Amino acid sequence: MEAPPDIARVRCARDARTAPNGIMSTEEHISRSTHWDDAVAGYEEYLETLSRQFADEAITMVGGVGPQTCVLDVAAGTGALSIAAARAGARVLATDISPAMVRRLAERLAMFPGCSAKAMDGQRLETPDDAFDAAFCFFGIFIFPDWRLGLRELFRAVRRGGHGCVLTTRDTLGAGQNLILFEALRAAFPGRSLPAMPEALTLLSEPKSFEAEMRRAGFADVEIRAVERTWSVPSLDSFAANLDRIYSSYAPYVDLEPIQRDALKPVLVAYARKHVAPSGAIEIPTVGLLAVGRKVERTDVSESDRPDRPSGQV
Ligand SMILES: C[S@@+](CC[C@H](N)C(=O)[O-])C[C@H]1O[C@@H](n2cnc3c(N)ncnc32)[C@H](O)[C@@H]1O
Repeated sequence: MEAPPDIARVRCARDARTAPNGIMSTEEHISRSTHWDDAVAGYEEYLETLSRQFADEAITMVGGVGPQTCVLDVAAGTGALSIAAARAGARVLATDISPAMVRRLAERLAMFPGCSAKAMDGQRLETPDDAFDAAFCFFGIFIFPDWRLGLRELFRAVRRGGHGCVLTTRDTLGAGQNLILFEALRAAFPGRSLPAMPEALTLLSEPKSFEAEMRRAGFADVEIRAVERTWSVPSLDSFAANLDRIYSSYAPYVDLEPIQRDALKPVLVAYARKHVAPSGAIEIPTVGLLAVGRKVERTDVSESDRPDRPSGQV
C-alpha cells in the first residue's frame, strides 16, 4: 500500500512554508479561521456528531443548565454544546474564530430565545469578567496557539461559583477519525515526517496534567472524567465517497497536493474497513477527557491555585 516515491516526495504548499524537515507546526495553522471557514458543512455532518455525544455528560458535570443559566461556548464550531444547552433552555453565547462557523451557529440558534453567536478568538474573549454561569470549550483549547491563555480566558469569563468545562481526547492523536488518518498517512508516505500534534493535546490527554493546567488557570475543585463515545459514519461506501468532507478541517489532509490525496484515499479506506461494525457502519471509539472546575471566591483560592496571568491582563 505504499505510494510511489515521487508522490511521497511532492512537497505541498504548506510544507514549503514550514521547517526544512517537513514537520508542520500545528496550532497556528489549525487555528487559522479560513481553514475552518471551508469546513463548516463537512464538520457539521461528520464530526459534530461525536462532540454532541459528550454534551449531556458535560452539562451534568457543571450541575446542569436551564432558563436561569448563562452559558458561553468557546470554539463552538457548528454548535454541538451550544445547541444542547439552548435546548435545555439556557441563554447561550456561542463563539468561534471562524466567521463561517459563527454564521451557521447564528442560524441554528435563531430559534432559541436569548441565544446568539459572535466571532471571537478564544484567546481574547470579548466578554466581561465573571459573566457566565458555565463556560465550555469542546475540542478547542488545544488548538489555540496560546492555549494556556485560552484556559485563563475561560476562567475569567466565568462568574464566581460558576464552572468551566473543557473537553479533550485521551489519545494524543485526537479523536477516532484522526487515528485512522495518521495510520494511513504513515502507511502511504513512509519516509515523510508526520505533522507534529499540538503540545497541549499531549499535556491535556493526561488526567493529572490536565487537572494541574485547570488549576493553573484558576479553577478549583477540578474533576476529570474519561468518557468513551463512538465516532461513526453510516457505511464504508459513504466514508469512501465523502473523504474530502470528513477531513475538510484536517490540515494534514487538506494540505496534501491533489496527487498525494489521491494516493492516500484508498489507504485510508483500507484502514477504515477494519472498523466496520456488524451494522455496516464504521465505528471508532474515542475516549474524551472532560475537565470541570469551579471558580471560587478569591479568598477560597490557595496561593498555589492562583491563576498565572500575564501582567496587564484583566
Ligand atoms: C474541532 S472544532 C470543535 C468545534 C466544537 N466545539 C465541537 O466540539 O464540535 C474546533 C473549532 O475551534 C475553532 N477555533 C480554532 N481556533 C480558534 C481560536 N483561536 N478561537 C476560537 N475558536 C477557534 C475552529 O474554528 C473550530 O470551529
